Amino acid sequence: MRAPITVAVTGGAGQIGYQLLFRIAAGDMLGPDQPVRLRILEIPDALPALEGVVMELHDSAFPLLHSVDTTADASVAFEGAGHALLVGARPRGPGMERSDLLAANGAIFSAQGRAIQEHASQDIRITVTGNPANTNALIAAAAAPDIPRERFSALTRLDHNRAIAQLAARTGEPVAGIRRMIVWGNHSTTQVPDLTHAIVGESLATDLVEREWVRDEFAPTVANRGAAVIAARGASSAASAASATIDHVRSWMLGTAPDDWTSMSVISRGEYDVPEGLVSSFPVTTAEGEWSIVDDLELEPEVAEQLRASVAELEQEREQVRALGYLG
Ligand code: NAD
Ligand code: LMR
Repeated sequence: MRAPITVAVTGGAGQIGYQLLFRIAAGDMLGPDQPVRLRILEIPDALPALEGVVMELHDSAFPLLHSVDTTADASVAFEGAGHALLVGARPRGPGMERSDLLAANGAIFSAQGRAIQEHASQDIRITVTGNPANTNALIAAAAAPDIPRERFSALTRLDHNRAIAQLAARTGEPVAGIRRMIVWGNHSTTQVPDLTHAIVGESLATDLVEREWVRDEFAPTVANRGAAVIAARGASSAASAASATIDHVRSWMLGTAPDDWTSMSVISRGEYDVPEGLVSSFPVTTAEGEWSIVDDLELEPEVAEQLRASVAELEQEREQVRALGYLG
């Protein structure tokens, strides 16, 4: 058996945490031979509820679960961690403006970034699920300048999975037969779901679906799916968000399939004219814990234009958090 890896998860008493922790403990994220130590960070008020989750984790008798610890202290949570899954975030409350949300989360993610830099393992990899995920990842990275930039990521895998599901339903192909989907930009309604390079079975997706459906149904359905789930459930997506977080880290660590890629939000080095330093979603291939952006695709003019709009939103968010003093 391998030595256990410490996985730090924030917001473990929340909705996503309730799904995510059990999947990690079952071995779905790092593989069936990899024991894990769970280190769960919560705010002090949520620690009693988190104890119930811990009881259930123990009661599940997961063979790969080496230990579970809870804390309200970030320096304890990230001590020696090989993965940090930053799920806990301040939700938007009544009367709160987006700038208030950025300010509240700025404080959380910059404190966690500092704690990660000071306490985590040398090879820590960070995945931000808590919204606004891309900008929260930017803030955490700015607070941890000694950690290589490529170790910070934000979740757009849920959007990627949603896009695959929509295309599968439209074409009648099982999801397993769909490759090379892309989601570009921000995890927000400006995101750009792009099937122009996707393969369905042996065919090009663009040979199977009409342009009107892509423009009027596919893209808006994927981009607004989060709001549709909230409207139906009265709460934001949780099981699918946890599942996508598992997929994101598993792909990162265990690699993408040959002839396929995934969508991941990572720090741009200027690819596809996304300004350097922004955390944007790109198509990436992964192998042995490293990702690389698929950087030789021809973008359709509409896709390029929509990506520019999503990037403009990311730049605006960056300016807001810079003005709040979170980017140093
Ligand atoms: P939730 O409110 O049920 O749970 C969040 C938990 O985080 C709570 O238990 C809260 O106490 C905790 N928390 C808050 N501040 C914290 C801090 N400073 N340190 C540690 N824990 C803290 O929310 P949820 O449904 O689990 O969603 C979590 C986040 O994920 C939200 O921001 C949500 O918008 C986001 N989300 C992102 C995606 C995506 O695709 N990127 C998808 C779904 C949800
Ligand atoms: C989602 O995509 O489901 C989440 O980011 C929740 C939201 O606010 O859309």
